Amino acid sequence: MHIHTTIADFRAARARAGRIALVPTMGNLHDGHIALMRAARQLSGGAAVVASIFVNRLQFGQGEDFEKYPRTFEADCEKLIAAGVDHLFAPSEAEMYPQPQRYHVEPDQKLASLLEGAFRSGHFRGVATVVLKLFNIVQPDVALFGKKDYQQFLVLKNMVRELALPIEVVALETVRADDWLALSSRNSYLSATERAEAPRLYRQLCAVAETLRKGAHDNVRDFVRLEIAALAELERHGWKPDYLTVRRRVDLQPPEQSEEPLVVLAAARLGTTRLIDNVEILSQ
Ligand code: PAF
Repeated sequence: MHIHTTIADFRAARARAGRIALVPTMGNLHDGHIALMRAARQLSGGAAVVASIFVNRLQFGQGEDFEKYPRTFEADCEKLIAAGVDHLFAPSEAEMYPQPQRYHVEPDQKLASLLEGAFRSGHFRGVATVVLKLFNIVQPDVALFGKKDYQQFLVLKNMVRELALPIEVVALETVRADDWLALSSRNSYLSATERAEAPRLYRQLCAVAETLRKGAHDNVRDFVRLEIAALAELERHGWKPDYLTVRRRVDLQPPEQSEEPLVVLAAARLGTTRLIDNVEILSQ
């Protein structure tokens, strides 16, 4: 695997490469990331697989975990080599932001101010800005993201479409532990007791999804009743939920009827760790 830490060095390699599939990450890689790397290899028809590792300050708010975000570069490189990744772009902060970033991508507020955006002000502006910058440097043909960050995927897919970037954006299913907890770098913050409790978030999402799938509940009042019951169940077990809500998959707006494709999404704090997850509601 070739490791590039400067934009100039990566660009020199880019000029020699053909098609490229990119998996952008912030490192601390787990099996969810590795599944994206392997899918990049399979789906992209012989493209070179490029991973990026960059902990992007712009997407962390005041008081969030930028400083303590786990940085595990050596272990990450071993995993990427084992997964057969061809190139790693791993710039320093000075390389990506040699001066404070003054030009930003401002995502559509109708999408970016909802859910995660309501609790993490400016988060998607930071994500969209760094991803556009990574896209400009790497110039991928395909970019892969996990569905765990469902809203992030929609923001980026819309950015690519609206800015006419020649990139295919692919979302992959969330990879889960044996007890169905969604894999996340932030799981490492959980104590043993919290880790045992953590799968409840997914179970509550599944309970809501399953009730809706059965089709007995099809109006907004029913959705709200289910959401309130699931939130109460989380709170009863010591969680501090930010939201647990049924939304339209296409734009994450509240649904008007259950015939349209829906997703139920949640974010909740367990101790000091904030976890997010979602489940697409399959129609019968
Ligand atoms: O999902 C992530 O790890 C990050 O938000 C991303 C897409 C790499 C941008 O920093």
